[in-house]
Amino acid sequence: MYSEKVMDHFQNPRNVGEIEDASGVGTVGNAKCGDIMRMYLDIDDSGIIQECKFKTFGCGAAVATSSMATELVKGKTVQEAMTVTNKAVMEALDGLPPVKVHCSLLAEEAIHAALWDYAQKNGIQIEGLKPPKSDISEGEEEEEY
Ligand code: FES
Repeated sequence: MYSEKVMDHFQNPRNVGEIEDASGVGTVGNAKCGDIMRMYLDIDDSGIIQECKFKTFGCGAAVATSSMATELVKGKTVQEAMTVTNKAVMEALDGLPPVKVHCSLLAEEAIHAALWDYAQKNGIQIEGLKPPKSDISEGEEEEEY
């Protein structure tokens, strides 16, 4: 059901932890499954992401996608980090089962939330970046509410 890469990143997640005095921190959750992810970015003066760490309280796919997402954003500029979408993360993991696709959204949203925090603190704008949602399941199935 899961690719070898997903299993590898789930069992040996990269970049787990916190960054003290991070340049940007973002926390997002999905109220439907109850999973939460926090992403920390260390960004240098030229806007390059030097370090990225995460903490995920969530399912295996959420752990694997956050791990891969941290690997993908490292070394990128804040603008380039916008290309690390949930699709890009899934591709890098050789795919996810359809029922687990929403888990990869948590990683994308957590990166965006951390970038937003950085942008706010530094008074800069990152093209295409929207204010973070605290619950990413919001608006998924509006009819239910
Ligand atoms: Fe919630 Fe995977 S089930 S993130």
